[in-house]
Formats: sequence, structure tokens, C-alpha cells
Amino acid sequence: MKQFLNDRLPFDGVMAHLRKPLPKHINLLFSLGSLAMFLLLLQAATGAFLALSYTPSPDHAYNAVKYISEEVPFGKFVRGLHHWGASAMVIIVFLHLLRVVLYGSYKAPRELTWVFGVLLLLVTLGFGFTGYLLPWDEKAYWATKVGVEISGKAPILGEWVAKILRGGAEVGAVTLSRFYALHTIWLPWMAFALVGIHLFFVRYYGSSGKPNNTAEEMHSGKPFFPDQVFEDVVGMLILFVVLACAALFAPVPLEDVADPTNADYDPRPEWYFLFLFQLLKYFKGPFEILGTFVIPTVGMLLLLFLPFLDRGERKVLWKRPIAMTVTSLCVVAIVGLTILGAASPKRETQEVEQPSQEVQQIPSPEETDTSEEEEDVFDFELTEDELKLPDEEE
Ligand code: HEM
Repeated sequence: MKQFLNDRLPFDGVMAHLRKPLPKHINLLFSLGSLAMFLLLLQAATGAFLALSYTPSPDHAYNAVKYISEEVPFGKFVRGLHHWGASAMVIIVFLHLLRVVLYGSYKAPRELTWVFGVLLLLVTLGFGFTGYLLPWDEKAYWATKVGVEISGKAPILGEWVAKILRGGAEVGAVTLSRFYALHTIWLPWMAFALVGIHLFFVRYYGSSGKPNNTAEEMHSGKPFFPDQVFEDVVGMLILFVVLACAALFAPVPLEDVADPTNADYDPRPEWYFLFLFQLLKYFKGPFEILGTFVIPTVGMLLLLFLPFLDRGERKVLWKRPIAMTVTSLCVVAIVGLTILGAASPKRETQEVEQPSQEVQQIPSPEETDTSEEEEDVFDFELTEDELKLPDEEE
């Protein structure tokens, strides 16, 4: 078999490359990237299973998710894996990023590995944002409505982005099919392409190793295959067992079906967007734009261009006091804002979301702006009747 493969493919060459020694002192933190990849594959596999019974329309989405959870064999378990897997992926990708920052692994020549990593972070968050709407329950509907509205507040392109996401003046049938298409086609393709490029760079430059490795130690550790691969696979199995326990014992929430007329609902995003949501509370009136656009955008740009801003050669953390201070402050701010957001009482939340209440009413046809440019988009818009849920029609 080996001879057969060798005659046709550069099998020996590939194996020799994989058996090359890694830097010395590689620890468990170097498995975080592989764990992120495992989670991406797990999400793709569980998502493909869920898609067999899901329909992206306001009339059927909620019942389909209920059907998956209550009737489909192993449906509850697979939905649980997909739900907890999404949260785990955000945590693991964030920890992987943190490891890369703390070890200075983003520095030359790995700038592009970093840039494609940041794009993967955005795609990971995009999966979370688009997936949240799909169960079409109250939290899905209202959190998406608020999220899309916030994106609409960005200057210049904001309104346009919000309109493209919504597919009309309101969150409705077109929004749901657009989010479904983004979640199941656009983002997975982008994720797999980006992972391919990211891993190409990882293999091309080799592992950066620990910051205080000597030049000799850089090539005298254990081989990637089979030693590191074995450790990564053990990590994946442990992670899978944890997720399986969560899927079996922690129920995945499904609230009442979305009711676009329920203006009393207290919208909250998924926990990993809570820090942004909490940030908005500190900027009111003319300063709102700071919370909705300026701070998140500047933060993301600084993250993207970090290797080009921090060009120092030192990698050991205690010799990089600025990097250490900024990283600690960012982590404390993100964790702190997330906790504050989770603990915030309902009334406070509604105050912040005041602007969204304005558009919670379904606009009457007379109120709808039918300018030529918008007509195309509004072709898809739902009327008040169409927005009624099956129960109401009966
Ligand atoms: C779906 C998301 C991601 C996947 C699947 C992924 C995968 C991987 C893998 C398998 C490795 C090699 C093992 C390791 O060093 O842990 C790696 C390394 C790396 N990743 Fe990621 N990654 C992702 C996200 C990110 C993010 C968000 C960043 C930073 C913004 C990033 C930056 C890097 C860098 C700079 C390296 C090289 C590290 C070194 O040589 O020591 N990655 N990634």
C-alpha cells in the first residue's frame, strides 16, 4: 500500500515533513489552534445534520427546531452539541489568540498568519450572530433586531449593511433566509478557505515555540507526527466528552415563538456579544456612535494590524511591558463588561434599547419609504398579515 502511494504521490516527502521536530517545550497551549479546528469541523458536521430537518421560514423555523429537539432521534443531542460547540469555539479561539499574543507569536515573519487568524475570529463571531436568529424564538428575533439596528448606526455604510442583512425594512422572512444562507453557505466557505491559508502559513513558518527557546531548541523537540498529533487528538476527545455532557445534561434554550409585536421583550445578545451590548450603555445621545461604531471598529483595526504596530523583536512577556499592560486591560475590560452585561437588570436593558422600540412597530404601507432605490429590496418585505405566525392565522 505504502509503495503504491509512494509511486503516485509524494507520500514519503509529506511524512518526512510531518515528522520534523517541533521546538522544545511545546505545551498544551499549542493545541488550542487544533482544538479550534476540531470545533469548526464539529459545527459543520452537527450543522449538516440539523439542516436535514430545518426550514428557514418564519412559519416553520420554530416548529422545525422544536421537532428536532423533541422528535428527531438524537436531535436534542446534536442540537446540544451544536449549541455548546458554538460557545466553546468562541472561547477556544479567544484563548488561542491570547496564547499567540502572550508568546509574541504574531511577530515577524508570522504577520500574515495573524491577519488571517483575526479574519477567522470575525467569521467565528459571524457564525454566532447569524445562527442566533435561526430558532426564530423571542430571543432570536429581538436580539437580531437590536444587532442589525446597531450595525445600521455605523456612518456611511451602516444603513446599507443593515438593509442588506434585513432584506427590507423589518426583520422578517427575507432576513431569516439571508441569515440561513450566510450561516450555512457563505461563512463555512469563508472559514474553510481562511483555515486553509492560516494552516499553510503555520506549516510554512513552523511553530514559533516558546519565547525563550534558544536557536538550538527550536529544532530539537518532539516530532509533529505522531507525538503532537496524538496530544491534539487526546485534547479533542476530552473536549468532545465535555460538550457531550453539556448536550446531554444542559438543556438548550428555546423560548416562545417570535412575536414581532411584543415590544415589552427584553432583548439580549448571545453571551459573547454581551460586552459590546454593555459598552453601549455608557454612550448616550451624540456619543452613542462611540459605543456602536468607533470603539469596536478601532479595537478591531488595532487587533488586525497588531504585528505591524508592535515591531519589537522581544517575545518574552516580562520584557514587553506595554503589550502585557494593554493585553491585561483588554481582557479585564471584555470579561468585566460581559459580567456586567449578564447581571444587568431588565429595566436598564430596555433603557439602552430605547431607539429600537421605535422600529418595533410593523410599518404600515403608507409609512414605508418606496423610493426607487429601495423598491427592489422592499419587494421582499412582509406585510403585517404575512408576519402573523401560524397560530394567529388559525
Ligand atoms: C477558527 C479559528 C482558528 C483556527 C482553526 C486556527 C488554527 C491554528 C492552528 C492549528 C495553529 C497551529 C497550532 C497552534 O499554534 O496552536 C495555529 C497557529 C497560529 N494561529 Fe490560529 N487558528 C484560528 C484562529 C486564530 C486567531 C483568531 C488568531 C489571532 C488573531 C490566530 C493566530 C495564529 C498564529 C499567529 C499562529 C502561529 C503560532 C505559532 O507559530 O506559534 N489564529 N492556528
